[in-house]
Amino acid sequence: MTPVTRTGGNRGYDEIVIRPADLIAPVQFAEKTTLDHPLEHLTACHRRIEERLATLERVIPHFIDKRDEAISAMESSLRFFDTNGSWHTADEEESLFPRIADRLTGDERGFIDKLEAEHQEAENIFTKLRAVAAKLKEDTPCSQERIDQYAALCRTLCTIYRGHIQAEDARIPEIGHRVLSEAELELISQEMKLRRGLQP
Ligand SMILES: [Fe+2]
Ligand SMILES: [Fe+2]
Repeated sequence: MTPVTRTGGNRGYDEIVIRPADLIAPVQFAEKTTLDHPLEHLTACHRRIEERLATLERVIPHFIDKRDEAISAMESSLRFFDTNGSWHTADEEESLFPRIADRLTGDERGFIDKLEAEHQEAENIFTKLRAVAAKLKEDTPCSQERIDQYAALCRTLCTIYRGHIQAEDARIPEIGHRVLSEAELELISQEMKLRRGLQP
């Protein structure tokens, strides 16, 4: 049988970009090794989150002209947030923040409180975005009104999340390395692996 190959002629498909990382199993070997260094893993995970946010935005102009590809890329990114994204938030809220909470300056405590409030704010928008995404999938063709709803929620989500990530990258590694012992970092690493169904 002659294998079906994709030629370079379909530029529109490539522009939407369904990355290979969107399509493979959520836990990769490379991720297991970075989980040995939990603070660095959180920062690395931010880069993956940023990629999925960019995909959620990138599909917006294509819901009309490349509907199926746009819906597929949107769903793939939302699946990432349902798995890796929720593990990442749990890593911070359940494994990291409680361990550093009583060793922070007043300013740092306020900073962590703000991060937790942003997690909740982002989750509230995700709930609305998932609902609109499900309706977009049912629409044939996608209605402009629904696309506008998606775009507004998506842009709000991206603004909140990008600012949140920038703030965490700027302060969390420094705070974590300052107040946590090697033994505590190892415990956090074990919890993060268990959360992903991996052997610590
Ligand atoms: Fe966070
Ligand atoms: Fe984070």
